[in-house]
Amino acid sequence: MTMEADPTGEVAGQDGSPSAPVGPAPGASSTPGASSSPVGPAANAARAADRTLISIHNLKTYYPIRAGILRRVVGNVRAVDDVSFDIRRGEIFGLVGESGCGKTTLGRTLLRLEEPTGGSATFDGTDLLTLRGKSLKKARRRMQVIFQDPVGSLNPRMPVSDLIGEGLLAQATPENHWADRKVRDKRVGDYLEEVGLRRDYSRRYPHEFSGGQRQRIGIARALALDPEFIFADEPVSALDVSIQSQVLNLLADLRERFSLTFLFVAHNLSVVQYISDRVGVMYLGKLVELADVGDLYANPRHPYSVALLSAVPDPDPRVRKKHLVLKGDVPSPAAPPSGCRFHTRCWLREKLGNPERCVTEDPPLRVIEPGHVSACHFAEDVSDRVVSQVVQKQDVIETAVAADEAG
Ligand SMILES: Nc1ncnc2c1ncn2[C@@H]1O[C@H](COP(=O)(O)OP(=O)(O)O)[C@@H](O)[C@H]1O
Ligand code: SF4
Ligand SMILES: [Mg+2]
Repeated sequence: MTMEADPTGEVAGQDGSPSAPVGPAPGASSTPGASSSPVGPAANAARAADRTLISIHNLKTYYPIRAGILRRVVGNVRAVDDVSFDIRRGEIFGLVGESGCGKTTLGRTLLRLEEPTGGSATFDGTDLLTLRGKSLKKARRRMQVIFQDPVGSLNPRMPVSDLIGEGLLAQATPENHWADRKVRDKRVGDYLEEVGLRRDYSRRYPHEFSGGQRQRIGIARALALDPEFIFADEPVSALDVSIQSQVLNLLADLRERFSLTFLFVAHNLSVVQYISDRVGVMYLGKLVELADVGDLYANPRHPYSVALLSAVPDPDPRVRKKHLVLKGDVPSPAAPPSGCRFHTRCWLREKLGNPERCVTEDPPLRVIEPGHVSACHFAEDVSDRVVSQVVQKQDVIETAVAADEAG
């Protein structure tokens, strides 16, 4: 894939503080280095780089498919296929997309829990994908993960003191004294309190806790290592709705208090909207859209994002929202469609009279508005008016089918 523009839509010359609003500054240029700031393009570029914690370029992670007695590689599941974007310091970057589109693989590759097939990724300027030995161990402490399933990720035979303590022990150095049991126990208690649990819970076992409490233990375990970055993979998906917002609020609060940066993955779009600063949308191993959360939800510019968002139920039960229904199933990531991967299901392509380009040319991510990128050849044609025309046409077809069936 050729990059026609900075995939993040990064705007040079913005305020670099982590708590700064993530939207583009008024009048800012979408071309890095082209700002008219009096301090000059070099200073702007340096500031933009300083705001970037993780920079991902053309990242690919394929899983080999083996067959036969010799277990020969006969193909690849292209779980992450040429993805590029930046995660800024202090932000919560939400990643959405249907199950199987590569969200978990992307996060796991960053943490080096999966081996990348190609591309590059840097963390605070360090090349993440070539780290080995001690430097990999050091990077692992700075980058932690919170899993979806708090029960499955905790060893049932370990008390909480050991569950949290084992990570500390593995990362003990002469400077942090984490090899000392007393130091570890004190730290475990401190971090239990940080996540809203009692210190003495450290003596209990996982089965003694509720789902929400177990997720808090998972968060304390990640936090105790003093990370800068957390990959939160569906951290509230296994929880009751009533508990979800408590855990989300805790994560948002911890982000502020510990200056954390998050890659936050969820398939629930409302959850992502609630917590994220910017959101990326993935489809079949590719990033297809990226924007500030408000922009993306109010004004999606990729036909796939439009369909995803249209499926979100309206919080008001009296509102009967019309959904844009996607045709067909997600194709196999082992044999993705040619050109634009979404072309087999794209409602916009159909509306435009099935242009050949969608089948022959892979659309690169390009800037549609400052800070808003989309990988669609016809992103400019995505508008509320076009969407409502398509939804109405769908309604007409559905009504006709229903009448046919009734007759
Ligand atoms: N260890 C693995 N071996 C082979 N295929 C895998 C493995 N892990 C994930 N996959 C495949 O990679 C694709 C992306 O999976 P995943 O990253 O888990 O997606 P998501 O988190 O978005 O649901 C899927 O097709 C999945 O079946
Ligand atoms: S490039 Fe074509 S097929 Fe792909 S999303 Fe855009 S209109 Fe649809
Ligand atoms: Mg997943």
